[in-house]
Amino acid sequence: MNDKLDANGTCVLVTGGAGFIGSHTVVCLLEQGKEVVIVDDLSNANEKALDRIAQIVGEEAAERITFVRADVNDRAALDAIFEEFDIDSVIHFAGYKAVGESVEKPIEYYSNNIGNTLTLVDAMRDHGCKKLIFSSSATVYGDPDALPLTEESPKKMCTNPYGWTKWMIEEILRSVAFADPEWDIVLLRYFNPIGAHPSGLIGEDPKGIPNNLLPYVSQVAVGRREAVHVFGNDYDTPDGTGVRDYIHVMDLAAGHVAALNWMSDKSGCEVFNLGTGTGTSVLQIINAFSEACGHEVPYVIEPRRPGDVSANYADCSKAAELLGWKAQYNVADMCRDSWNWQSHNPNGFEG
Ligand code: UD1
Repeated sequence: MNDKLDANGTCVLVTGGAGFIGSHTVVCLLEQGKEVVIVDDLSNANEKALDRIAQIVGEEAAERITFVRADVNDRAALDAIFEEFDIDSVIHFAGYKAVGESVEKPIEYYSNNIGNTLTLVDAMRDHGCKKLIFSSSATVYGDPDALPLTEESPKKMCTNPYGWTKWMIEEILRSVAFADPEWDIVLLRYFNPIGAHPSGLIGEDPKGIPNNLLPYVSQVAVGRREAVHVFGNDYDTPDGTGVRDYIHVMDLAAGHVAALNWMSDKSGCEVFNLGTGTGTSVLQIINAFSEACGHEVPYVIEPRRPGDVSANYADCSKAAELLGWKAQYNVADMCRDSWNWQSHNPNGFEG
């Protein structure tokens, strides 16, 4: 028994806990009284996020964080964690996530994302910890036949290796749960996470040129880039630009905590959409962000980006019914919090 364990709490291992969604989830877990062990190799995260998490939750709660700088593929590092801590459950965020890069480096993406998941579940089994939440993505729905997307909507062809890693890991984890009923696995399919902690202390800090819309818009708003490139205005959507279901990262973080609390006495593998159920176009996002930052965000219309779908948004009734979870923030809140983070940290965690 680990003597650091909080009397009310349990110990959660969070892979990729220094990253965008991971860091916000760690804040929520600490606020719930849980102890958290973060394993992150910082390949796409900044160690300063850990100090910021501590600032948000306060000294006392921050004592419940342990940070291990390691690759999830490092089996010896995982074994050492499971031996030292009484890990109750694992939330697995760690993975490469740049869509374009995955097309250039398929071997690295398959090997890292799938490899680290296999290393993790093998270590978990050997140490008798069989409760896992996995970060999946709405990307597994491919080009949808009908909207909104429910968990019953078919998984379809992905357009890039990043998407396929999510697709395949879901199947791997289903097989794991099928083979051994002691496993309790939840696959969370995120729609488009944006926003930041309302304190402005943590947020999304992509390395290099952002691939995703929101970090690009906020870097234009803060003057780091000239104009947003809108990828296509000839889609079959109300204003011709792509429609997505943007979800505040704090809602997403709360969704993980809700899933964790729900799964305590379950068995098997369950999947949940985490979105808001509302579709928002690229131009609506640019307008909402302009409102939030108080000036027009310039944009130019470009050709469509290969692999993009015209629209997707979620039906989140399953999460509402079973997890008692529902998104609380709207797009205006998301833009306000993204801007608060970006304007206070124009160069991300580096200042
Ligand atoms: C992308 C990935 C998806 C991944 C998700 C989370 C693709 C094809 N899909 O989703 O697999 O799970 O990120 O990281 O990349 N847009 C612009 N200009 C930009 C950037 C985006 O107009 O500079 C548009 C896109 O065409 C799209 C919308 O904004 O309509 C959202 O794009 P993005 O933020 O990249 O997310 P997705 O493509 O939905």
